[in-house]
Amino acid sequence: MKKQKPVFVCQQCGAVSPRWLGKCPDCDAWNSYVEEAPAPSSRPGPAAGARGTRRTPVRIREIPAETEARDRTGLSEFDRVLGGGLVRGSVTLLGGAPGIGKSTILMQVLDLMSRRSIKCLYVTAEESLAQARLRAERLKLADDGLLILAETTVEDIIETLHDAKPAVVVIDSIQSVYSPALPSTPGSVGQVREAAGRFVEWAKRSASSVVLVGHVTKEGAIAGPRLLEHMVDTVLYFEEMPGSEHRLVRTYKNRFGPSGEVGVFAMKTGGLSAVTNPSELFLAGRPAREPGSVVVASMDGTRPILCELQALATPVSFGVPRRTAHGVDHTRVSLIAAVLERKIGMHLVTQDIFVNLVGGMSIQEPAVDLPLAVALASSVKNMPVAEGTAVAGEVGLAGEVRAITGADARASEAARIGFQRFVLPKANVRHLSQKHKVQIVGVASLHEAIEALF
Ligand code: TYD
Ligand code: MG
Repeated sequence: MKKQKPVFVCQQCGAVSPRWLGKCPDCDAWNSYVEEAPAPSSRPGPAAGARGTRRTPVRIREIPAETEARDRTGLSEFDRVLGGGLVRGSVTLLGGAPGIGKSTILMQVLDLMSRRSIKCLYVTAEESLAQARLRAERLKLADDGLLILAETTVEDIIETLHDAKPAVVVIDSIQSVYSPALPSTPGSVGQVREAAGRFVEWAKRSASSVVLVGHVTKEGAIAGPRLLEHMVDTVLYFEEMPGSEHRLVRTYKNRFGPSGEVGVFAMKTGGLSAVTNPSELFLAGRPAREPGSVVVASMDGTRPILCELQALATPVSFGVPRRTAHGVDHTRVSLIAAVLERKIGMHLVTQDIFVNLVGGMSIQEPAVDLPLAVALASSVKNMPVAEGTAVAGEVGLAGEVRAITGADARASEAARIGFQRFVLPKANVRHLSQKHKVQIVGVASLHEAIEALF
């Protein structure tokens, strides 16, 4: 019999290599390759597509229309990121760093659903029943209804699922359940993939919703949730907001709704609570009439969020000028500084630049360009931006202000929070579909924006 060669598997993304690699070419993780025993060769059976099992193609219009059945969880921000609730028969992956609140939020969600007589099972593979009970007490959960199972082997869990037939199941975590039938260690790529595969199959067959918890670790000591992203229907990631009790849950993939959605939560002593008004949260404590501060009307997924961007330009004290940015891409800061230098004649080469998006938020979209330019100009001129002004717009290398998406939603949010003026790209103005309760100021260039604001 041919001797099977060893294989090396990236514990972050599941990429396979015949030799050990220091850095994964797929996900850029370092030291993530671990030798794994080759998977047992599958039993010889009828080849796929063997006679009798083949299906015939059907016309797309002849497929009966099905609307997916959803169960609202009852936690508004969680429902938002799920696209309206848990879809029956679907599998959701909730990833995040240890200690960020995955177990907490899911126990709260199952409690809320149990109260509505939906049969829920929380499988804890990491904590004991006593620990689960302690958490439930801390969260002041209504103790009836919710079922807890402390179990680590996939086979036993699946068997329990067949008997108990819950409508919603949480597996906490996918990295700590394993199948003794496989030779690899718990938490390895092979184990995680096998376990997830079994739960996906069960979800589809039973039309129950399954939520898998996946730890994200930097070290790559255990298999990361990234390798499961393609197997599940919805992928949510928990993110920390540095220096605050707030947490974000972001939708990275959703077969049943929009991706890019974001839910905001606050971690309190009684668990996570939904923050339904993030703009108010991010604008709280904003200094009045302070140079360098500007309010960005940003979009996170389909949701507009207003937040404060601060810039500080100070003469270079030593050597090369520094560009430091928190919450926005620092190459974007360099680019906007260069455009301000060339097109507006603002002297920034001799300035250190610090940019900070207040409240631990981060904005990746290009609409942050114009607010960034305005904040820098405000700091350099030492002139505050007029009170009650929100700004959004992309800036091109020629100093032109380019159209952005979601202009209506941004304008509505600015009006709702009580802003008087919204500065946006001129190209967006004539496409606004409704009348807004804010003064709309369209600008076509950086020059025009600076004229209008200072
Ligand atoms: P947890 O849900 O255990 O994180 P994960 O499952 O993602 O590893 O969250 C644990 C943290 O949350 C821990 O640091 C304590 C804190 N916490 C609260 O602040 N309030 C609470 O009511 C609970 C249950 C936890
Ligand atoms: Mg946990």
